[in-house]
Amino acid sequence: MQKEISSLGGENPVVVPGGVAFGGGWEVCYRVNLWSRIASRVLWQVHAFSYANEMDIYEKAKRFDWPRFFAVERTLRVNVTAQKSPLKSLEFATLRIKDAVCDRFRDALGKRPSIDRANPDVRVHAFLESSRATLYLDTSGEPLFKRGWRAGAADAPLRENLAAGIIMLTGWQPEDALLDPMCGGATLLVEAAAMARGRAPGAKRHFAFEKLAAFDAALWERVKHETHGSESSPTLHGSDTDPKALNAARRNLAEAGVERWVELERADVLERPAPAASGVMVMNPPYGERMGSPEELARFYPRLGDALKQRFAGWRCYIFTADLRLPKLIRLQPSRRIPLWNGALECRLYEFEIVAGTHRKKSAPA
Ligand SMILES: C[S@@+](CC[C@H](N)C(=O)[O-])C[C@H]1O[C@@H](n2cnc3c(N)ncnc32)[C@H](O)[C@@H]1O
Repeated sequence: MQKEISSLGGENPVVVPGGVAFGGGWEVCYRVNLWSRIASRVLWQVHAFSYANEMDIYEKAKRFDWPRFFAVERTLRVNVTAQKSPLKSLEFATLRIKDAVCDRFRDALGKRPSIDRANPDVRVHAFLESSRATLYLDTSGEPLFKRGWRAGAADAPLRENLAAGIIMLTGWQPEDALLDPMCGGATLLVEAAAMARGRAPGAKRHFAFEKLAAFDAALWERVKHETHGSESSPTLHGSDTDPKALNAARRNLAEAGVERWVELERADVLERPAPAASGVMVMNPPYGERMGSPEELARFYPRLGDALKQRFAGWRCYIFTADLRLPKLIRLQPSRRIPLWNGALECRLYEFEIVAGTHRKKSAPA
């Protein structure tokens, strides 16, 4: 994430709880919103203070000149998250911050912004630590993984920014063949194709910074016309056993405008051949009761291991799953295991380098 932020002009990116902090002006803010493939949102830190109770939070949040930052006609939502905060109710803290912002408007203008929890123009985020509160204006609005290309619904799709991060972690380059043999709605393929084509992930959506008082439309136009990366012509392959998933994949690829670089077919991962002599395979097998019982998956993994070994020598295979039994059951030795979070679910991206005659794990159960 730090590398991506630096490449977009973010200054001194450092990892902090819940994200990466960085500096920069509006140009950087617009660019990171438009181009970050892995961030969820870009928050602008506007106010920070120490607090002991809800009254402090109300008074100190009200000292900030909110009407300078957005018009009273804009609708508002406040979100609070906390780590080691002594406050009993975050809901009450949220109300106090909302009151502080609205009262500041009323004192200045005689009217206050309306609240819209579902689709607000302006989001204020507060992060409460043990004695410090930091307030942010959200410059993204809808989270950045909402790219605007998802037209077809398939089961258990990955979030777009997680999928993009997985593709980056595989080290796939557009000149390598890429295959997702359990492609579902094709999230991994769309993100890989968008990367290879140098498409801005946010090109089809709007951002909350467009609703802030400081919005500079001319600067935004300039940033929108920048290019980052080159346009390659990748060869991507996707397959799935479920015709509904393939339908959703087709619609998503078309909506994202990348269908001509992706070949889709109906096939079972346990039977399909490799589409090239070498390449990168990436997949996200079903997981969780809704998608297959633990027993079914325990029977599936060794067969998947066999399929990889028999048909994918020369390929680097990546499996993203929350099922930590996988390396044992697939009976192949992972060359890397990368911990990742899918929301609150702890997952791993396992890397298997398949070479002809890949050795079985010695301790493998029968
Ligand atoms: C968790 S979903 C993949 C979601 C996908 N990564 C996305 O973001 O849209 C797992 C997919 O594996 C497919 N699947 C299950 N068993 C399969 C098999 N034996 N061969 C191929 N696909 C299979 C399911 O139909 C489902 O679409």
